[in-house]
Amino acid sequence: MLWSATDRLTSPLHLLAFKDSITVFGKGKSKAIRSRLHCFQSRAMETNDDTSKAKALSFDDFLCKKPYSPPSWASHLKPIPSHVFTLAHLPTPIHKWNLPNLPQNTEVWLKRDDLSGMQLSGNKVRKLEFLLAEAAAQGADCIITIGGIQSNHCRATAVAAKYLNLDSHLILRTTKHLVDKDPGLTGNLLVERFVGAHIHLISKEEYGKIGSVALTNVLKEQLLKQGRRPYVIPVGGSNSLGTWGYIEAVREIEEQLQIRSNGLKFDDIVVACGSGGTIAGLSLGSWFGALKAKVHAFCVCDDPDYFYDFVQDLIDGLKAGVNARDIVSILNAKGLGYAMNTSEELEFVKEVAAATGVVLDPVYSGKAAYGMMKDMTENPKKWEGRKVLFIHTGGLLGLFDKVDQMGPLVGNWQRMDVSESIPRKVGIGKMF
Ligand SMILES: Cc1ncc(COP(=O)(O)O)c(C=O)c1O
Repeated sequence: MLWSATDRLTSPLHLLAFKDSITVFGKGKSKAIRSRLHCFQSRAMETNDDTSKAKALSFDDFLCKKPYSPPSWASHLKPIPSHVFTLAHLPTPIHKWNLPNLPQNTEVWLKRDDLSGMQLSGNKVRKLEFLLAEAAAQGADCIITIGGIQSNHCRATAVAAKYLNLDSHLILRTTKHLVDKDPGLTGNLLVERFVGAHIHLISKEEYGKIGSVALTNVLKEQLLKQGRRPYVIPVGGSNSLGTWGYIEAVREIEEQLQIRSNGLKFDDIVVACGSGGTIAGLSLGSWFGALKAKVHAFCVCDDPDYFYDFVQDLIDGLKAGVNARDIVSILNAKGLGYAMNTSEELEFVKEVAAATGVVLDPVYSGKAAYGMMKDMTENPKKWEGRKVLFIHTGGLLGLFDKVDQMGPLVGNWQRMDVSESIPRKVGIGKMF
């Protein structure tokens, strides 16, 4: 069955995007995940299983609408989404992360949600799998969402919407000096503009006065008057439906642990929090599922009290019957303010990259990892001997907004020394 949006389909790509899957979630999904796990995870988690070589993602595992059934431990939540749209490359790998200066016997492992696909969409793609399935089911022909000028969520939405042949309208918050100017092409903006997103700039003052809900409603009304069928996604994709993205991520981690043979178990999960949906899903999943790891969120804007209330609303929206303060611990990692960095934070991001090869974004995972390391230094007993899973939520493109600040921190270049006379050798390589 095709959705009403299919009347806009033209290219073979879009036919693929709207093809119903023959694999049924529920039992089928579990099997599908397992086969995908066999594909990638044996390598990512260093097991000796060699079956991965023979298997690959089938056409039915990507860009398909599938009926959804939740993990058994989440089946009491309500409402349960009817469908999911497969946009991400899952499962994302987990590997040991040899951060320097860890407390005694502390192990940190990294879940690479920065590698979730959809043009570097990080954690956002997991929420969008549910949100865009609903948008399509409602017959939407365009998506509205809202965020900061370098919002990873807005960029991820613009890209994912285009895969479904939907237009996107992004309300982006910027300073009042820049609100009437061309926003440029730095970082996320380049991708958004390439995929044809309609960008609506708003000043921080207007955003603060009117609020994100009213702003998206205004744009929705305008588009409805033009005969369009808009679907609104809130800031960060964080509503109760989007929360399913990280409930599913917990199922994925559980299955990854099951496949790994040596009984690894995580005591803690650490992750950045910017709009609350990721931690809502992770903490519900960890609480109700088999994982039972303690979730530590490092918030990069607002404050912990705000997020406890916000997460409570999200989980109440799923009739979870639990108290947010019992299932997640939220610490402040805002520092100078949202999307603002001290040079210590940027130095830390650079040092982690130099020590481990993993590039963190400065706005979310960079601040969360910085906060985690600070807490480990100040309270080593709390972390000693623990096995910690840090979720890298992506956001690499945000780094390009910081090049001016980063410049002085990286000095590792020099002119190559070719002062001696070196005889030319004929070999491969184009010359100009
Ligand atoms: C890269 C990145 N990491 C983490 C987050 C935080 O996730 P959430 O908005 O679900 O709290 C966001 C978005 O806010 C993000 O873009």
